[in-house]
Amino acid sequence: MSGPYLMAAIDQFGDAGQVRLREQPPPKPGRGEIVVRVEAASVNPIDTRRRAGYGRRLFSLMGAARMPLVLGNDFAGTVCAVGRDVTTLREGDTVFGAKPPSSQGTHATHVVVDARLALRQPLGLTAGQLAALPYNFLTVTRALAGAGITREAIAGRPVLLHGASGGLGLIALRLLQGMGARVTAVAGGANRQACLQAGAASVVDRHAVPLHALPREYAATLNFANWEDDATLLRLHAPGSLGHATTVHPLLGQLDQRGLLRGLAASWLMRRSVTTHLPGGARYAWTVFRPDEAALASLAEWAPLLNLPMTLATYPLDKAAQAHRHVEQHQAGRAILLPHLTT
Ligand SMILES: NC(=O)c1ccc[n+]([C@@H]2O[C@H](COP(=O)([O-])OP(=O)(O)OC[C@H]3O[C@@H](n4cnc5c(N)ncnc54)[C@H](OP(=O)(O)O)[C@@H]3O)[C@@H](O)[C@H]2O)c1
Repeated sequence: MSGPYLMAAIDQFGDAGQVRLREQPPPKPGRGEIVVRVEAASVNPIDTRRRAGYGRRLFSLMGAARMPLVLGNDFAGTVCAVGRDVTTLREGDTVFGAKPPSSQGTHATHVVVDARLALRQPLGLTAGQLAALPYNFLTVTRALAGAGITREAIAGRPVLLHGASGGLGLIALRLLQGMGARVTAVAGGANRQACLQAGAASVVDRHAVPLHALPREYAATLNFANWEDDATLLRLHAPGSLGHATTVHPLLGQLDQRGLLRGLAASWLMRRSVTTHLPGGARYAWTVFRPDEAALASLAEWAPLLNLPMTLATYPLDKAAQAHRHVEQHQAGRAILLPHLTT
């Protein structure tokens, strides 16, 4: 294993200017772990929000808010060291995957990961393309399960997807298309074509048509856009619907603002008041990202087939602050760090 060992880290919560390049202690793999030389790592909205302090109470409890804090969950790269009891991977294997939230994330030249959460790279995709997928794919599969969506249950039925043009939304469109669902995508008008290309049957421009004007006919709804719209989405369910999942729930924000017990109580009340709008028997889920081996394995199968209408905006590690601004300013394309690219 050889250096340089660098990381894009923050020493305190704040704006993108807090993200600075610094030396990284040479990482050592523990039992069951590998060190990955990171060729590409994505910057997601959660990274910019965590950088600003979002979720700090819960992440502190998980040991995932220690300074210097290195953000990032996704990685694609090459195995450069293998810990004890790792039998599935060897030095030189090219891998990709996702880490759970931690203080030593993937925005670095090297990262230690649990070997079970690293899979061999499928053929046909670049490291940048692969690094754009795991965090979002794993979140989407959890959201689909949370809403009760399976291929058998959803084939031929209508789904409403709010936030369809984003990182989560485009993957969800592709997966739902593969399951045979008829998806109405809610997105900004400028993103109409991307939604159709990813598999939407129709697109509603959220700036032109209010959600409450849509028909009450959906077998499932997904909210990847705005918590304030959750109650309205639940009113659009048809009787006998499967369920709803949201990734934009207020749980972490409530814990930050009110502390653990009061935050949990306030979140529970918010959840209860919203679910009164759901038809009896339908599921309701607040989705939280968590890596799991089975879902990663299905991503390795799906990845070459996803063929998403997605452009990549690549940044070297010393421009990580710019990549954060890219995400915060909703600039076009997925922000990807290439830690070994020199400026
Ligand atoms: N709970 C979790 O574990 C978890 C995991 C992953 C992501 N998330 C959250 O899920 C959300 C979606 O993630 P993402 O990566 O897909 O984000 P993204 O790439 O920023 O896409 C979200 C899309 O939603 C639309 N949108 C944004 N604000 C909106 C608003 N106020 N009202 C209606 N539509 C709005 C925008 O598209 P248009 O302009 O085209 O409508 C935007 O591109 C983010 O808030 C993210 O933080 C949560």
